Amino acid sequence: MNEDVWERALKALNLGPRFYYDRVGSTNDVAQNKIAEGVPYLTLIVADEQYQGRGRRGRSWFTPQGAGLAFSVIFYPRPGGIRAENLNRANGLGALSVAQALRDNFSLPAEIKWPNDVLIQGQKVCGVLAESHWDGSMLRDLILGVGINVHPHAVLEKETLNFPATSLAKASGKEWERPLVLAKVLETMLDWVPKISSNSFLSAWENLLAFRCRAVQLIKEGKVVAEGNIAGLAEDGSLVLEKGSGNKEAFQVGEIHLRPVDRSIK
Ligand code: BTN
Repeated sequence: MNEDVWERALKALNLGPRFYYDRVGSTNDVAQNKIAEGVPYLTLIVADEQYQGRGRRGRSWFTPQGAGLAFSVIFYPRPGGIRAENLNRANGLGALSVAQALRDNFSLPAEIKWPNDVLIQGQKVCGVLAESHWDGSMLRDLILGVGINVHPHAVLEKETLNFPATSLAKASGKEWERPLVLAKVLETMLDWVPKISSNSFLSAWENLLAFRCRAVQLIKEGKVVAEGNIAGLAEDGSLVLEKGSGNKEAFQVGEIHLRPVDRSIK
């Protein structure tokens, strides 16, 4: 990667050290190795290509050379920042940062498919993999891995079988500069981190939820575990569904995922 171009785009941000790679298995794995070496808070790992990118629920994530953004940010628990108590909110941090950055800076109608996928016009453009590591009950670190489809060749044909996918280029019909997109996403993320426990964080995440007031199913290990209309988010970032009976129930971020009822996708 041409480090100078990326460094120029990120120079105004209050990040830790930045590491750029042409090709790695997974930036989250590189981040874990870097943590073992003792890198500081907000260290950033960026890769031009990932050959073993990982998604949620054991899925893989495809990042061919130069096609998208694949990066990981390293957090350690901090008062006034991410802590064990608000870790569920950290799940929304990646998606909120991407969706808001796309809306505010590039006028794209990005929404969040709870907990942390970003959609444009119902098609997935970004996925987030939050991985935390613990010493017993003490949170040791959080790695927030973000993948964004920027150019059309970031989208695999067969990905459309799981959930329809798109790229920023396809959704907007415009050319995109990856360093600029990364800078805007990180700027938005750094702005939210100290406010992660606030009501405004929760409202911002909630306001961008896709399928709001629409019927959805929650799926765990291939089985429908709940069905109802999206009512909003609970304090801890759980999804609140209003069931047919009118009762509300909250579902925690975990191995669960969501699908709109009126779409025949997995
Ligand atoms: C998902 O949609 O299931 C989450 C995809 C997360 C992909 C990103 S790309 C950067 C980071 N490194 C990985 O191996 N995965 C995440």
